[in-house]
Amino acid sequence: MNARVTPRGPLRGETTVPGDKSITQRAILLGAIATGVTCLRGANTGADARAARDLVRRLGVRVVETPREIRIHGGTVRESERILDARNSGTALRLATGILAARPFLSILTGDASLRRRPVARVLEPLRALGADVAARDGDRLPPIVVRGRELQGAAVVTAVPSAQVKSAVLLAGIQAHGVTSVREPAATRDHTERMLPRFGALVERDGLASRVRGPAELRGTEIDVPGDFSAAAFLLAAGAVVRGSNLLLRNVGINPTRVAFLDHLRRAGVTIDRENERESSGEPVADLRVRATTIRGVKVPPERVPGLIDELPLVAVLAAFAEGRTVVRGAGELKVKESDRLASVAAGLRAIGARVEEHEDGWTIEGSGGRVRGGTVDACGDHRVAMAFLIAGLAARDGVLVRGAEAARVSDPRFLARLRSLLP
Ligand code: S3P
Repeated sequence: MNARVTPRGPLRGETTVPGDKSITQRAILLGAIATGVTCLRGANTGADARAARDLVRRLGVRVVETPREIRIHGGTVRESERILDARNSGTALRLATGILAARPFLSILTGDASLRRRPVARVLEPLRALGADVAARDGDRLPPIVVRGRELQGAAVVTAVPSAQVKSAVLLAGIQAHGVTSVREPAATRDHTERMLPRFGALVERDGLASRVRGPAELRGTEIDVPGDFSAAAFLLAAGAVVRGSNLLLRNVGINPTRVAFLDHLRRAGVTIDRENERESSGEPVADLRVRATTIRGVKVPPERVPGLIDELPLVAVLAAFAEGRTVVRGAGELKVKESDRLASVAAGLRAIGARVEEHEDGWTIEGSGGRVRGGTVDACGDHRVAMAFLIAGLAARDGVLVRGAEAARVSDPRFLARLRSLLP
């Protein structure tokens, strides 16, 4: 599907954003192994969340959906006679691997063509420290993954890449292992798993960059109100910042400190976001966010700021094209192994809309145009965040932007274009 967005004037009014994709998938997977019913309200309805739901169904778990809630009847996980397909979802694939490593049966996990190109050794190696019997194609590098579930022993793990998926896979194996499992990461990544486990009855001790669990833990079903996804809100914040005259309110957005580095980035670029009505929802901080359009400046993004900004970097790049001055992003080599090679797909998109970009091994240098971007035709490269970032660019680029393969947005936000339209004059 091609989608075309052209400048239509300021974005005004208020909206909500889809439920958090990371939190939804964690709740589905934990709900599957907890006894009793887990009830999710405000869950993400995108393709990744559906992949997680269908994966636990294949493992024998009953999942009932109504327009209001998802109910997971957990505690019935058993061997699947079919291959488990995480489709486009790295989170579902890697977290399920951690769970299944401790289950006494064989599982084979795979995904779509994009996911089958994404590395899994980073998950298999730490799980082996707990005694897991896991293997993958191409010398353990790529899916499919084969898991021969068995009893695990707690272990102390130090992860090599800052990855919430890897950390979470270890913690999910750890709560089922015997004894204490600790995982230390090289930089702080999103901590939704650590915040959610206690709600299911598993204690998590935290100390700086390390988290510790004790197994085997007895998980009990719970209720979770899923906050709006900050990474989905980020697209609308960027739109509100870049389209002259905009003034937008986004309600009920998760503002977990491990997720909101983009707010600091916007502040450095000259955009202030007001937080209103701050509160807590199921262990996660939430607020309403207001953005007003302004002139954007180029920003230097050093490597230490990358983990907190990881999913927003395509947007950082698009905003940079409209900014005054130069933006430099370094230390972002992880972008090569996302849903697409985002260093390449974003650089190609920027060139296609007439922006000046140099692609590096681990980032980009982008020369801002002071708001004068031409527009053009961009390939989403099968990547939801690339699709949405360039649809936003279309709101402010002179000739608009046509995105080829815009249906990729459905992975995280099936109503993205409708939501955008509701805010336009
Ligand atoms: C996610 C972690 C991040 C992020 C992804 C979702 C998660 O990936 O990019 O969109 O739900 O834990 P990595 O763990 O590979 O950094």
